[in-house]
Amino acid sequence: MLILGIETSCDETAAAVIDGWKVLSNVLHTQAVHAEFGGVVPEIASREHLRLLPGIVREALEQSGKSIDDLDGIAYTRGPGLAGPLLVGASFAQALAMDSGKPLWGANHLEGHLAAVRLTFPELAAPFLCLTVSGGHTELTEVTADGEFLSLGCTRDDAAGEAFDKCGKILGLGYPAGPEVSRLAALGNRKAFALPIGLRGDGLDFSFSGLKTALSRLAKELGPELGDRLADVCASLEEAIVEALVAKCKVALQERGLPGIAVCGGVSANRRLRERMQQMAERTGCWARFPAHALCTDNGAMIAGAALWRLERGDVQPLTGPVEPGLALG
Ligand code: KG4
Ligand code: ZN
Repeated sequence: MLILGIETSCDETAAAVIDGWKVLSNVLHTQAVHAEFGGVVPEIASREHLRLLPGIVREALEQSGKSIDDLDGIAYTRGPGLAGPLLVGASFAQALAMDSGKPLWGANHLEGHLAAVRLTFPELAAPFLCLTVSGGHTELTEVTADGEFLSLGCTRDDAAGEAFDKCGKILGLGYPAGPEVSRLAALGNRKAFALPIGLRGDGLDFSFSGLKTALSRLAKELGPELGDRLADVCASLEEAIVEALVAKCKVALQERGLPGIAVCGGVSANRRLRERMQQMAERTGCWARFPAHALCTDNGAMIAGAALWRLERGDVQPLTGPVEPGLALG
């Protein structure tokens, strides 16, 4: 099955072509224009998608060596995401489908992040535990043997990526701060400062908002010394986020008796998270899988993958509306 995937839920303008679970092309443009505002400005993101999408889609087709006529269908992100950016992608995809006469599928962005793991490991088979960690989501889900998504836990406040970004902002780092915190953390001492681990009670929920408060207090205490201790602060911060994620995943794997875990979303690019999750899984007698680095952040291949996964199960949702900004996993 040859599918063109179009992703515009946030600040990545992306398109890709997949052939079954093989990625033929994956073109994306990260809108750097938002950096000066310290976060994504929805209206600017919409306009940028509108400006960039035709070129990105053309390039994705060219790089795949396929034409629109070769395609079996077109998938776009139906939600969740920012309403304006989603509408731009949906309208573009609808126009393309109408013009070419190809089927059109509205895909779930969160299922897309999970599909990125399957594009990396095509043999990935349910049941398993799925941890989705991005700028907007921190979700613990059980994917059952018959492909159902069972929500086990989620963040009660900030998402893990949001915690990286907001804490990074307090430390004077640019947006998004996750990759830079992670780079600096590798140079620091993870035990330098004790920051609150984002566990929320005995259940499977997370809470990362306390971390921001603790970090801002620490930054004030350090004062001018912060510059010299930045690597240690980043290492301690990364450890607090990673340990919360790993601890709850361990409990979930054991409680639900699942054979392994798939970690996905932008934060799944984090090296320490991969290392600690892999260690925990091995000690628990489970497997751990992560998407290829190129498929961690929002991209078009994952959206095409989300559609393919549903098509394989004979479960493609009819197009009920063009976009659903608040769509949940499954
Ligand atoms: O999935 P994604 O590209 O967009 C959303 O759907 O949100 O995730 C972006 C998030 C940002 O918060 C970014 O800081 C975080 O992923 N991120 C990382 C790393 N790379 C991206 N966080 C920690 N370590 C990284 N290496
Ligand atoms: Zn995402």
